[in-house]
Amino acid sequence: MPPAIWSETYLIGHAEMDHLHRTLVDSFAALQQAATADTPHGKILGLLDDWLDHFARHARMEERLMERLTLPQSLSHRDAHVAEHVAFLHQAMDIRNSLARGEDAGNALDHLGAEMIAFDMIRRDFELIGLLLHEGIPF
Ligand SMILES: [Fe+2]
Ligand SMILES: [Fe+2]
Repeated sequence: MPPAIWSETYLIGHAEMDHLHRTLVDSFAALQQAATADTPHGKILGLLDDWLDHFARHARMEERLMERLTLPQSLSHRDAHVAEHVAFLHQAMDIRNSLARGEDAGNALDHLGAEMIAFDMIRRDFELIGLLLHEGIPF
């Protein structure tokens, strides 16, 4: 799988979310690059921890927006979206544990990066913005 690369096509039109997404993709790309190069173990773990912080901050911001949704279809979106954020964090923690044991986690990292872009940034986050617009909630 190719490494994560930021693209303007990921822009959603919400300044803070777009900024956090860009930070997420860029910090993930730095992590992938370090994991495929001859990088000291501690440095790779540090980059993964940075990414985890960025992901958690981004999830909190999106979840604050979701708290304003009220319609039934929006509430099902919120449940699924929040559960996916938690699943991403668990997946990343599993990778962290593998790396800490000295195992190769290159494939798992590639998979996580591809899912972050395809399932969070493209599918769920565009859906979230659509629901906010549909409910007439300013953002
Ligand atoms: Fe999200
Ligand atoms: Fe997101």
